[in-house]
Amino acid sequence: MNIKEIIAKKRDKHVLNTEEINFFINEYTNNNITDYQAAALIMAIYLNGMNKEETLDLTLAMANSGDILDLTSLGIVVDKHSTGGVGDKITLILMPIIASLGVPVAKMSGRGLGYTGGTIDKLESIPGYKINISEKEFMQNVKKIGISLIGQTMNLAPADKKIYALRDATSTTESIPLIASSIMSKKIAAGANKIVLDVTYGSGAFMKTKEKAKELADEMTEIGRLAGRETVAMLTPMEEPLGKNIGNTLEVIEAVEALKGNMQDDVKEVVLELGSNMLKLAGKGNDLEENKRKILENIQNGKALEKFKELVKNQGGDISYIEDTNRFEKTKYILPVTLEKEGRVKEIKAEEIGKLSVFLGGGRIKKEDKIDKAVGITLNKKIGEKVEKEDIVAYIHANDEEKAKEAVRRLKNIYVLNKD
Ligand code: URA
Repeated sequence: MNIKEIIAKKRDKHVLNTEEINFFINEYTNNNITDYQAAALIMAIYLNGMNKEETLDLTLAMANSGDILDLTSLGIVVDKHSTGGVGDKITLILMPIIASLGVPVAKMSGRGLGYTGGTIDKLESIPGYKINISEKEFMQNVKKIGISLIGQTMNLAPADKKIYALRDATSTTESIPLIASSIMSKKIAAGANKIVLDVTYGSGAFMKTKEKAKELADEMTEIGRLAGRETVAMLTPMEEPLGKNIGNTLEVIEAVEALKGNMQDDVKEVVLELGSNMLKLAGKGNDLEENKRKILENIQNGKALEKFKELVKNQGGDISYIEDTNRFEKTKYILPVTLEKEGRVKEIKAEEIGKLSVFLGGGRIKKEDKIDKAVGITLNKKIGEKVEKEDIVAYIHANDEEKAKEAVRRLKNIYVLNKD
């Protein structure tokens, strides 16, 4: 068996068998297959797809490419994962809330992918926050304070870490077998026994339609079932970016504000929907409305924000930035965007906003690229809001003057208004 034959087989639309998939994952993880060969196979999978058996084989091979954590000593541990979105800072808000309600949270997140952001890049914008900790520390943190959020570290699903970075740099993200195997391999390796999936659809998501999102959700819940993990998937529309900010530091600041009770309506809806189901899965109550009330209560009484601070402190982060978010470094340029027309916002093309954030330096073009944590976009007006002539609809945060001006020009076309 060799990799050229496997690439040719998928290129020619044939089904790969378990041995071939295991060979690819093992050899790529051990650096015996080059990035360009792996990229060719990933592109062939992207173009020609995989059937359910192939996707399950790929997921299990990726999960088994490293260690599989055993969290049974922690009791019921609930994990959550989103299929990605623009401005999606839900993990930063929801996980401390859930932990503050007594459910252990042990979560491994990813970096930015394509035009969507990643929780790990966001957490790293908090000075000192360590996403790379040992398995022992990860378990100790969950035992001690009830929560740990880490990157793809230790030796957990290393194959996904490599393939994820490759997909980000080769425009091969929007694929059901690749997304399903990426997410579920991480979830299986990280050890949680209950999993809530947030499957997004719309212009800011990888799945553009609800039907495709349902297909992805079904595929992932079936993998979860076969792997013995209780998995629930929710479908979340993402026609415009979630919340007000897009960009790593900006989203951390918005998450802190949300934990203080200043939460955007669309963010709140997702937090309550996912959170109430997580509490139910964790055996904390079957009444979803009552669960939502508990979530709101722990925001109001400050317990959720306290848990976030505990998390940051415990992982080496400087909590003075959380206590005073003005301490976060600002970009050199913060330019207002006006539209010189009036009406009501009909559309804010989320994918274009995500691409704009990458253009400003907030995401990667090559997998080695360093990202600029401070750049991004703040939306002052969202869908349905009225815009008068010369109203500021958004701000561009940039460190490069030319890019800032170009971003302002591009953003004017991303906003679509209805005549009111
Ligand atoms: N999140 C992941 O971890 N992987 C994907 O492929 C998409 C979103």
